[in-house]
Amino acid sequence: MNAPNPREPIGVIGTGYVGLVTAAGFAELGSDVWCIDIDEAKIEGLRNGIIPIWEPGLAELVEKHRGRLHFSTDIADALEHARLLFVAVGTPPTYSGDADLSAVHAVVDAMPPSDTHALVMKSTVPCGTGESVQRLFAESGKDGFRYVSCPEFLKEGSAVKDFLHPDRVVIGDDGDWAGDAVAELYAVLDAPIVRTDIKSAEMVKLASNAFLATKISFINEIANVCEETGADVIEVAAGMGLDDRIGPKFLKAGIGFGGSCFPKDVSALKQLAGNSGYHFQLLNAVIEVNELQKRRVIAKLQKHLGSLVGKEIALLGLAFKPNTDDMREASSLVLTARLQAAGSHIRAYDPVAEEEARKLITGAEFTESAEAAVTGADAVVIVTEWPEFGELDLVALADSMRGSLLVDGRNMLDPDRVREAGLIYEGVGRPSAGGVPAPAV
Ligand SMILES: NC(=O)c1ccc[n+]([C@@H]2O[C@H](COP(=O)([O-])OP(=O)(O)OC[C@H]3O[C@@H](n4cnc5c(N)ncnc54)[C@H](O)[C@@H]3O)[C@@H](O)[C@H]2O)c1
Repeated sequence: MNAPNPREPIGVIGTGYVGLVTAAGFAELGSDVWCIDIDEAKIEGLRNGIIPIWEPGLAELVEKHRGRLHFSTDIADALEHARLLFVAVGTPPTYSGDADLSAVHAVVDAMPPSDTHALVMKSTVPCGTGESVQRLFAESGKDGFRYVSCPEFLKEGSAVKDFLHPDRVVIGDDGDWAGDAVAELYAVLDAPIVRTDIKSAEMVKLASNAFLATKISFINEIANVCEETGADVIEVAAGMGLDDRIGPKFLKAGIGFGGSCFPKDVSALKQLAGNSGYHFQLLNAVIEVNELQKRRVIAKLQKHLGSLVGKEIALLGLAFKPNTDDMREASSLVLTARLQAAGSHIRAYDPVAEEEARKLITGAEFTESAEAAVTGADAVVIVTEWPEFGELDLVALADSMRGSLLVDGRNMLDPDRVREAGLIYEGVGRPSAGGVPAPAV
């Protein structure tokens, strides 16, 4: 199969967050893209213009390139039209914390012998996966099949923008045609391309996510010390972030990280290290701090409300972060479970994640608006920093509540404005009335 000019057609296997954005992004750059998924309903929906996820700009891009995007459940369609098959299937955590590679292996097994195709791994996989896939290819007479590691760094909520304007593109390969072909596809983007070996590329992804998660847990621990000492973590982070060596990003204290990537990738790296005999102590702490951080909200509620039995708690935001409907590992899941176990009644509002949330949260009341959620509440907790929560009429909110406690889990409101409205403000790492007792582990 010759690579036609000017843009090479590609296949994308797995049309979830990463796969669909990758497909739409490459379509925008001019490629025809054959998108494959085992989920027949998803493929049928996509053929009819139904986008299964909420991601800014994605629906528009898919619609714009309907002529270039081809959806199928049959991998043969991708193999027929494209030599590069981008793999974007899920790699969720197993009970042990290792990455579950069963979907990746299903894709590998489905490949026929070929000297003209390559798998391009976008899924986040443990270091060494490329080597084991190449071994599997060799054992099954498919050693002509090439393998490239091209980890994905997009962020949900800004995934389309991140695809088109990446900080860098990392390509790990064995120095054959496939790595060059992938580099050629990305060359039009104004981004540094890091060419390296497969294992190093795999490790760049895991190390990057582990580092970002470490930064979050670090600032959360600083915030917790600020609560004990009376310092304000917002001021502290601003002062720290001006140091070039530290930088201002990922220094926002809050109620912990969630989502489909950080928790699983941190634990996968910890397990990967452990499996090879190295005890990655720092990551143990990063994970534990993150778990405790979510639970500190409960301590803040108890500090002001006493027993939570029968209390009406309004949760504003449910998605793991704004601009997405992704509920995987969202802090709201831990909070609802803990609050319900403590006897509270939950009213929850999220601008886009309600449908996904309903699949995971039972016994809560979902409301149509933030205003409806807070009416009659004893306490309000901002869980996800959706911009609309920054615009809330705080005086009206205070009037409609039964109690007067606002826990700002994302430090998005001005404490003075909240207090002027007659509410009690509890942020994360911000001065408040007295310290917060550490949660019972
Ligand atoms: N979501 C993110 O922000 C993000 C960012 C960077 C990297 N990643 C990584 O990318 C990978 C995909 O993540 P996601 O969030 O897009 O997952 P997802 O669950 O949204 O999508 C995975 C898709 O793969 C499909 N699939 C599963 N097995 C298949 C098979 N054998 N053949 C064809 N399709 C199959 C599923 O039906 C689903 O549609 C993961 O490894 C993840 O860690 C995710």
